[in-house]
Amino acid sequence: MADQPIPLRRYFAANTVALAPSAVAIAALYGAGFLAGRPALIAMVGIAVVTAVLVQRYLASLARFARFVGELSDEREPVMPRLSFAPATEELATAVAMLSIGWRRQRASIDNLAASAQAIVDGLPDPLIAVDRQRRVVRINQAAVALLGPVGAERDLSTAMRHPQLLSAVDALLETAPDGNFIATDQSAVEFVLAGPPELDVIAHLRRLPRAAADGSLALIVLHDTTAQRRAERMRADFVANASHELKTPIAGLAGFIETLRGPARDDVAARDRFLGIMAEQADRMRRLVDDLLMLSRIEQHEHARPDREIDLENVLRGVLDLLQLKASSRGVAIEFAVAAGLARAVGDHDELTIVFQNLIDNALKYAKPATVVRVTAEPAEPGRVAVAVSDEGDGIPAAHLPRLTERFYRVDNARSRQLGGTGLGLAIVKHVVNRHRGRLDIQSTPGKGSTFTVTLPAVGWLGGNVTPQGVTPS
Ligand SMILES: Nc1ncnc2c1ncn2[C@@H]1O[C@H](COP(=O)(O)OP(=O)(O)OP(=O)(O)O)[C@@H](O)[C@H]1O
Ligand SMILES: [Mg+2]
Repeated sequence: MADQPIPLRRYFAANTVALAPSAVAIAALYGAGFLAGRPALIAMVGIAVVTAVLVQRYLASLARFARFVGELSDEREPVMPRLSFAPATEELATAVAMLSIGWRRQRASIDNLAASAQAIVDGLPDPLIAVDRQRRVVRINQAAVALLGPVGAERDLSTAMRHPQLLSAVDALLETAPDGNFIATDQSAVEFVLAGPPELDVIAHLRRLPRAAADGSLALIVLHDTTAQRRAERMRADFVANASHELKTPIAGLAGFIETLRGPARDDVAARDRFLGIMAEQADRMRRLVDDLLMLSRIEQHEHARPDREIDLENVLRGVLDLLQLKASSRGVAIEFAVAAGLARAVGDHDELTIVFQNLIDNALKYAKPATVVRVTAEPAEPGRVAVAVSDEGDGIPAAHLPRLTERFYRVDNARSRQLGGTGLGLAIVKHVVNRHRGRLDIQSTPGKGSTFTVTLPAVGWLGGNVTPQGVTPS
C-alpha cells in the first residue's frame, strides 16, 4: 500500500525540533565572531535541507510502523514494512509482531474453549437455558431450541417461557439482600406443565453459579421431561385399581354365596348345588385372572432378553388348534388352516408363542359369528420374517378402539368380554411376548365384517448368526 502523505504541521514541527540545536550552535558561533554571516547562512541552509530529508524519511517510517501495529488487530497477517530510517522502530515492530502472534494463539484457544463449552452444552439431551443477573437469556442449547423454538439473545426469560411458577423460582434464586448477598439457596426445582401439543410434564432444576460466568450466565435452568414417568405412574396406579376391581367382583360373589349357604339356603340341597356351581365358576375366574397376571409379570421381567431357539410354527399352531377344536365345534365355527410350503422356521419360544396364538385364536372363536370360518395362515412376510394371521368373520372392532386394544384390562365391550369369561389381559400378554420376540402385532378390523390379527416374527438365519440350534443351551 502507498505511503500516506505526512501532515504538514507535523512535518514542520519535527523539522523545527531537529533543526533547533544546529540553529542555536550556528547563531552562537556567529554571535561570538567565529563564523562570518555568509558561511553561517550557507551552513544553516545546508543543515536545514539535509534535516528536512532525514525528518521526512523518519516520519514516513514511523507512519508505516503505526499502520503495521494497527493492522495487527485485523484478521489478515500484516506484512512487516521496511523501516530503514528508524532502526529502533524496526525492533519494536518485531517485538509487537511476536506479541501479536502470541495474542492470536491465545485468542484461538479461547475461541476453541468457547466452542467446546457450547458443544458440550448442545450435547446435553435435556434442554438447558442460562440466564444473567437480570434474568435475560444468555445461552441456550439445541435441546431447548428444539423444545421452545428459537429464543432471541439478551431477551427476558419470560419471552421463551411464560410459566409463572418457573419465573418466580428464577427470580427467587437471583434475588439479593441489601448487602448484595443472595437470599435463597443456590438450587431449587419446580414442576409445571408445558403447553402443547403435545402437553408435557416438566420438572425444571435451577442452579445459581457461585459467580457470574464470562458470558454473564448466573443461573442455569435444566428442563427434564417427566411425561413418560408420570404416565407410567398413572398406568401402574390404574393397573392396581383395575386388578383389584377385577378380583373384587368374584370375591364379593363368593362371600355372598357363602353367607347364603350358611344362612337361608343351609338345608336347600338344590340351591346349594346351584350355588356351588356358580362359586366354582367364580373361583375359576379368579384363578385365570391370577394366572394371567403372573404370566404378564413374568414376561415383562425378561422382555429385554430375545428368545434364541428355532421353532416350527406349523407345529405350534397345530398344537393350539387341537386344544381349541372343541370350543370351535361348540360355537359352530369352522377353522381353516394353511401353511405356505417350505416356510422358514421362526426364532422364538415355543411355550410363549403357544400362548400368543391360543389367545388370538381363542378371541377369534369367541368374537366370531356362529357358523362362520376362522382362518389361520402362516407364510413368509418381508425378507427375513414369517407372518401368522388369524382372521375371523365377527363383529369387528371400531377403529377408535384399536390403538388401546393391547392395554391391560381394555375391552371393547366390558359386559360381553366378562360374560365370555375374558380377563381382558389376553392381548396385553400377546403384545409383550411379541415385543420380546422383536416381532410385530398388526390389527386390521372392519366393523360388521371381521378382524385380522397378524403376528410377524423373525425367521431363522436373519439374526446375524446368533441363533442357537433347537435343544442346545447357549453357553
Ligand atoms: N377377534 C376379535 N374380534 C372382536 N373383538 C376382539 C377380538 N379380539 C379381541 N377383541 C376385543 O379386544 C378386547 C381385548 O381382548 P383380550 O384378548 O385382551 O381380552 P379378552 O378376550 O376379553 O379376555 P382374555 O384375557 O380372556 O383374552 C376384547 O375384550 C374384545 O373386546
Ligand atoms: Mg382374549
